[in-house]
Amino acid sequence: MKALYFNHFGDNSVLQYNSLPDPEVKNNEVLVKMKYIGLNFADIYRRKGNYHIEKHSPYINGYEGLGTIVKLGHKVEKSHLGDKVLFVDVPLANAELVAVPLSKIIKVPAYLGEKTAASIGLQGLTADFLAHDLANNQKHDQVFIQGISGGVGQILLQMLVADGINVYGVTSTKKKQELVLKQGVSEVYLRSNKWETKVSGKFDTVFDGVGKTLDQSISLIKHRGKVVLFGMAGGDPKKIDALKLLEQSKSIMTGDLWDYLTSREERQFRFSRLVKYFSDGKIVINDPKIFSLSEGRKAYALLESGQSNGKILMRCD
Ligand SMILES: NC(=O)c1ccc[n+]([C@@H]2O[C@H](COP(=O)([O-])OP(=O)(O)OC[C@H]3O[C@@H](n4cnc5c(N)ncnc54)[C@H](OP(=O)(O)O)[C@@H]3O)[C@@H](O)[C@H]2O)c1
Repeated sequence: MKALYFNHFGDNSVLQYNSLPDPEVKNNEVLVKMKYIGLNFADIYRRKGNYHIEKHSPYINGYEGLGTIVKLGHKVEKSHLGDKVLFVDVPLANAELVAVPLSKIIKVPAYLGEKTAASIGLQGLTADFLAHDLANNQKHDQVFIQGISGGVGQILLQMLVADGINVYGVTSTKKKQELVLKQGVSEVYLRSNKWETKVSGKFDTVFDGVGKTLDQSISLIKHRGKVVLFGMAGGDPKKIDALKLLEQSKSIMTGDLWDYLTSREERQFRFSRLVKYFSDGKIVINDPKIFSLSEGRKAYALLESGQSNGKILMRCD
């Protein structure tokens, strides 16, 4: 099979595209012939060597993708052959073939287009667990999203709006601002403008996947409010003073989606809950940006540039 891989951690130049041996399929696994591979910020952290990655030689990055089951492990029922499936937490996914434990597959409903399904897997399930497991906001709550124009940001904001919550956010460019304003946000600020003092202490919840903005996020929540910290696309947060939080009854919650995907049933239930927003027309996303896997370096470069505003996929031809 062809794969995108690296031998040493580093910048984009470490990525290589070439032939590697096909994966071995264990008893409870299926072999998925990949059509679309999802690129995520965590893949950049992993390529740099500052995030957990499955030990493998050479390293094949990636944990998300969509494809068809073409081979079964000995203990897997024959009925699964030919199924269209998605996965969001299986290593070695930047490749044409991926061995996937049966417990980690998510069946994709026929009415959901392949491109849409591949685009909403990890980012959509992340938005879903941030909204429904971590923040648990009530109707009419005021919430704020850092990096609101990103893939997770756009799905999360539309989900919250559909749930009756008032959503605000900040973004880096006018183009991104216009994009998210069409999605039901109450107000979107430009990071380069002076906006912070106007809304300091106003929010019940701030969702922060940018990381280095954590201090600002803490100042934006009201007393008894919470920051949901879920990533560091813009850089690591500074250390925080827990006693200062205590004085104002402010909280910080964190979470990793994978700790919430504990069984096949759990994955399928969460995916169905997510897909309902799309089939009800409550969430609409723009088309993903698609690169061929052989041009994977370009896909990584775009994500890392901060210029993207939606899902980036790599296609296996
Ligand atoms: N906890 C979990 O389980 C989990 C799961 C999936 C993803 N995540 C995290 O969620 C975050 C968002 O992921 P995503 O897939 O939505 O990524 P994305 O589409 O690239 O969005 C990230 C957004 O962050 C903003 N940003 C600010 N500073 C940036 C910088 N220096 N470089 C790049 N972007 C910067 C950008 O928005 P503006 O231009 O609008 O500021 C960008 O659109 C990431 O931190 C990721 O690690 C966490």
